[in-house]
Amino acid sequence: MKGILLAGGTGSRLSPLTKSISKHLLPIYDKPMIYYPLSVLMLAGIKEICIISTEHDLPLYKKLLKDGSQLGISIEYRIQKKPNGIAEALLLAEDFIDNSSVCLILGDNIFYGQGFTPILKKATKLEQGAIIFGYGIKDPERFGVVAFDSNNKVVSIEEKPAKPKSNYAITGLYFYDNNVVNIAKSITPSSRGELEITDVNKEYLKNNALQVELLGRGFAWLDTGTFESLLESGQFVETIEKRQGYKIACLEEISFKQGWITEKQLLALANSYKNNSYGDYLIKIVEEGI
Ligand code: DAU
Repeated sequence: MKGILLAGGTGSRLSPLTKSISKHLLPIYDKPMIYYPLSVLMLAGIKEICIISTEHDLPLYKKLLKDGSQLGISIEYRIQKKPNGIAEALLLAEDFIDNSSVCLILGDNIFYGQGFTPILKKATKLEQGAIIFGYGIKDPERFGVVAFDSNNKVVSIEEKPAKPKSNYAITGLYFYDNNVVNIAKSITPSSRGELEITDVNKEYLKNNALQVELLGRGFAWLDTGTFESLLESGQFVETIEKRQGYKIACLEEISFKQGWITEKQLLALANSYKNNSYGDYLIKIVEEGI
């Protein structure tokens, strides 16, 4: 399975923070936002990744993440000229996807919770159809919403409904079989002029090929869409990291624990952070085996 990380858009809801820098480079406590969704792909065991962003921001991602080899992964980049919708990512990365299945994650989605890695690993085994994730929240009208009947069968998927039929938001993490490219080609722009990922998911639902997994209350799916939620996400990460002494979404640590880089490579990465607690943490991974 290959991975696509979509990190374009205008970030207009966070302006002026995003006037000169991409939203996905803003800090979530001690790392740029994009580290969090990238860590999800890496925890899933996905090593071939395509990052899609604007022409303006792409050089900044290249500076940050390079070709991925320092993390034992491979990163390709594609430009999205205009925010024409999330589903356009599947078209822009058609050659990258080739004949593989694909996991698409949105660059502003942060997940945290015990047992997440097995859930991800299971989803990467997908051969046919699609898997999406629902998460109960108090303001579902801001998201895609999935509703179920009394037998827990999915009955509807709607994008930002004025009157949500459930409180389950659809998170920005999607697993698809290779047919997704054909489906993305078949949909047309919505009234807001975007190729909606919800329309892709609706097509899978219509074909009886959509699985919806619910992430429970013990999980955190964090929002970064407003000034308050951006700050709160950073505070959440700080709280957990300070309490436990473990970092969330530390890419170097994940890569090392996946066996994708050696101890020597990890120490070399650590040494690139001189007199800095992030670098100290990487050294501790080797020295104390945390
Ligand atoms: O976060 C989950 C939600 O993401 C889902 O529940 C919705 O169904 C889905 O449509 C999407 O809703 P948003 O309103 O959050 O989408 P937004 O336009 O804010 O974009 C989400 C991310 O994708 C953001 O990081 C910017 C990026 N993006 C978005 C569009 C439309 C792009 O890179 N290019 C685009 O064309």
